[in-house]
Amino acid sequence: MLISREIIEEIRSRNDIVELIGSYVNLKRAGANFNGLCPYHSEKSPSFTVFPATQSFYCFGCGAGGDAITFAMRSENLDYPSAVEFLAKRAGITITSDDREEKGGISKRRILDMNLAAAKYFRACLFDERIGRVGMDYLTKNRRLAPSVIKHFGLGFAPDGFGGLTDHMHKLGFSDEELVVGFLCGKSQKTGRAYDYFRNRIIFPIINTSGDVIAFGGRVMDDSKPKYLNSSDTPGFKKSKNLFALNFAKNHCSERMILCEGYMDVIALHAAGFENAVATLGTALTSEQARLMAKHTKQVIISYDSDEAGQAATRKAVRMLSEVGLDVKILRMEGAKDPDEYIRKFGADRFRSVIDASRTGFEFKMETTLHKYDLSVSDHKIKASGELCEYISEVWSGVEREVYISAAAKRLGISEEGLKNDVEMLRRKKIKTYKEKTSQQARLGAMGVGDKINSDAIKNIRAKSAEEAVVGLLLMFEEYRALVVSKKVGLCKDDFFSEFHSRVFEKIISLHEENQYDFSMLGQFFNPDEMGRLEGLEQKRRSLTENGRAVFEQCVSTLKAEKQIAAQGTDSIDSIRMLLEQKRNKSNN
Ligand code: CTP
Ligand code: MN
Repeated sequence: MLISREIIEEIRSRNDIVELIGSYVNLKRAGANFNGLCPYHSEKSPSFTVFPATQSFYCFGCGAGGDAITFAMRSENLDYPSAVEFLAKRAGITITSDDREEKGGISKRRILDMNLAAAKYFRACLFDERIGRVGMDYLTKNRRLAPSVIKHFGLGFAPDGFGGLTDHMHKLGFSDEELVVGFLCGKSQKTGRAYDYFRNRIIFPIINTSGDVIAFGGRVMDDSKPKYLNSSDTPGFKKSKNLFALNFAKNHCSERMILCEGYMDVIALHAAGFENAVATLGTALTSEQARLMAKHTKQVIISYDSDEAGQAATRKAVRMLSEVGLDVKILRMEGAKDPDEYIRKFGADRFRSVIDASRTGFEFKMETTLHKYDLSVSDHKIKASGELCEYISEVWSGVEREVYISAAAKRLGISEEGLKNDVEMLRRKKIKTYKEKTSQQARLGAMGVGDKINSDAIKNIRAKSAEEAVVGLLLMFEEYRALVVSKKVGLCKDDFFSEFHSRVFEKIISLHEENQYDFSMLGQFFNPDEMGRLEGLEQKRRSLTENGRAVFEQCVSTLKAEKQIAAQGTDSIDSIRMLLEQKRNKSNN
């Protein structure tokens, strides 16, 4: 039976490929990607590449490649279902016959219903004059939140006692077991009965983008510890995959998003008109959250606390967010520890100008580097300049590099020329390694001789490259899959010369038709060697700039022309040429 796309996607998103492969192979960053020595063939210089953006890997030396599942299959010597299970276990996911039923047979839907009922209870408590007075006073007086803001975020209050919520939920038909699995209750060691987990706390419901309450955070109203309690992961909720207030921010963040540390920062920002603010959920930023943000926005302004911990977290976040292709900026906030305090002290307008003045990744890099070293010591100066050169050499735009070089030279008190030489030398070195790799890839691709995976490719070299382009483009873009399925572009499995490409085409299209297409799903039909080939075809297309519809259609018509020629026999070179000419004239008209 087919494993569903939902499960496959879940498993893949919970096993970040850099982290997974990094636990087997020593990986080094190279621009947006990571390199290492290939674990599948012996080599001295690394041609094995991991691509965080596509969550895939490819060895330009031996052609091994694929996704996390392919990697697990190869490395642990497993078949597809066992590799899926292996990765699921690794990420702490239980797969059962029905993936909606997880812990103790309690469904996700049931947990979400329970959370909604609990959120209503907490809200009612907060707005109850008698019960919620302390909570309401804290929010309106200490935190100066307007009632409309409190309502907007659905804030609540958990009274100080062990049975308030538990009794209420019992009345609604929820069992002790359900309350414990849903993390609304703890279970008494002595009696085995459930008791309220959140007590005497302000409640922040966490709502996902579908509007479901998936968890709660609870804050004390004084200095007692712990300051926050958060629900742990439940069948309806994975902290590492969600962001606080994304349900509101998603409609206000197509250009940029503000990333903060705390719930209260986000609430203060939204209240002040910055409705594109989100926060992680009491944990450090995860790569899943970075990818989630990349789905919603182009630029992220990191607005972490100004203390040392906040700045350390900022450095990490800069890398993770850049890695998924986001434009990253870093807020410089002086005179307040976090955005909540800043807005309260200086107002929304000042905050807006701080946002507009936020630093680029380079400016942040330069400041933190210069902060680390004492430039009056020449050894330190060299180290600082080395670090900055490394950073600048990875910048793609020449103009941008020049601007950075000039700024860095000024700050370091060295000549622009000297710095520029170092940057360009580093860059040349990097480009050379890159070129060596790609030319090797090109040679391997062009030969097609002794190709075990696609053994009949050699029959028709022209068709081979057109087929490879078509397959690569279909793997890369849903748009082209849709064109084929809707018959806007006429292409069928018999148009391919190679049995392998024909099979791949058929699978991609049928998965797309069933709304089950995902690169990882192909692993159920193709072995790891074949998956490596597919990964290679996709990466090859990605490295080219021209992937438009015209290219796709051109390749399809090349295939058709080749088929026509083949059907008419190939006894004379002239006749082939004639037919091709005819075909070209036709398609030009
Ligand atoms: N956090 C947590 N558990 C703690 C402390 C913090 O989960 N014991 C998480 C919460 O999500 C919190 C965030 O880390 O919102 C930032 O922590 P902190 O800066 O200490 O809190 P603030 O959000 O600034 O809260 P407040 O302004 O109410 O003090
Ligand atoms: Mn705060």
